[in-house]
Amino acid sequence: MALSAPEPLTAEHDVSGFRCGKPALDHWLKTWALSNQEKGFTAVLVVHEQGRVVGYYGLAPTAVAPSILSRSIRTGPPPDPLPCLLLGQLATDLDWAGDGIGTGLLKHALQRCVTAAKLVGGRSLMVNAIDAEAAEFWRRRGFIPSKDDPLILFRSIADIAASLKAVQGA
Ligand SMILES: CC(C)(COP(=O)(O)OP(=O)(O)OC[C@H]1O[C@@H](n2cnc3c(N)ncnc32)[C@H](O)[C@@H]1OP(=O)(O)O)[C@@H](O)C(=O)NCCC(=O)NCCS
Repeated sequence: MALSAPEPLTAEHDVSGFRCGKPALDHWLKTWALSNQEKGFTAVLVVHEQGRVVGYYGLAPTAVAPSILSRSIRTGPPPDPLPCLLLGQLATDLDWAGDGIGTGLLKHALQRCVTAAKLVGGRSLMVNAIDAEAAEFWRRRGFIPSKDDPLILFRSIADIAASLKAVQGA
């Protein structure tokens, strides 16, 4: 069955059966995603099969204390708080795990961040890893743990833009 391209979550999408193996991310999708999107807290993008959501991510603006970032991302002297973007959620339904949906959603999210940062600023993308396994997933993708929490990681937008450009040019 064909999957949709990533599109904004609406009330028409069926999230009731979503299960990614991390209950907090299932709960967030079923309980908070739509209202957060409608209120403008988070942009939630989903991939679905005939309306049934099989993967999603959530993006929001954020700002952090510069002191938690590595020097290479912080650069000096930065504003305090330092404007960033937050990829707060990324998950694929277990029935579809390992089929490239997570990688595709992440690429879509990174491209959006680069576009958004060009329009309104944002020094870095911040991710909230749900656990140590997820933190490892982010480290393999070039994200650097913050100074005081290994589950909060950052990658500069400039670095993300350069890597997307390199892949597109390849
Ligand atoms: C991480 C996740 C989004 C990957 O989705 P997917 O559609 O299976 O991913 P793909 O098929 O594109 O690629 C598989 C990648 O996911 C990794 N992966 C698979 N299960 C994972 C898990 N439970 N936790 C972390 N990474 C996982 C694989 O190791 C592989 O990464 P690698 O290429 O670096 O080896 C999915 O496993 C998931 O929803 N996990 C639970 C939620 C989670 O940990 N989200 C991460 C951010 S908090």
